[in-house]
Amino acid sequence: PLPTLAALAFGYLLGSIPFGLILTRMAGLGDVRKIGSGNIGATNVLRTGNKKLAAATLLLDALKGTAAAAIASRWGIEAGIAAGFAAFLGHLFPVWLGFKGGKGVATYVGVLLGLVPVMLAVFAAVWIACAYITRYSSLSALVATAVSPVVLWFLGYEKVALLFLVLTLITWWKHSANISRLVSGTESKIGSKG
Ligand code: G3P
Repeated sequence: PLPTLAALAFGYLLGSIPFGLILTRMAGLGDVRKIGSGNIGATNVLRTGNKKLAAATLLLDALKGTAAAAIASRWGIEAGIAAGFAAFLGHLFPVWLGFKGGKGVATYVGVLLGLVPVMLAVFAAVWIACAYITRYSSLSALVATAVSPVVLWFLGYEKVALLFLVLTLITWWKHSANISRLVSGTESKIGSKG
């Protein structure tokens, strides 16, 4: 079996690739960390005005988590969980960026897809409904990540539910500035440059 350490290292390496930063640099848009919220994720890439680049960031930040979890799962669910966890942490704390990475939402969804594919539909439905109603990317992520571990638990994926309970808590912690802005009514809406 793939040793847990190898799964962790593999997941971390994949997860730590900062696609938002790489893509915006390649497109000549400068450093995405200097605009909007300063985050390297798709929501902030969208604030450059380039929708395709934002979509590509979302897709690649998600798929790195999917790849880590799905590939490592061939050695058992524990290896998949370890690699998915490490990919998520790699995205949040990439050694290449002085451990200052993203907020984790895309990679969270990607790992979900890699471990329990049907959960993509659950997460996406909740996120899209919330985003449609409120226009807040952060709030939609907070709601969708709160719902996901509960649904996993009821579907009988106890170990995966525990992983996502931890990922949800970390995601919420990484969104503390967003939560303050949501509470004070100053959070920027999807597509606005703020
Ligand atoms: O998924 C990230 C989103 O929830 C918040 O991004 O750039 O608005 O802080 P941002």
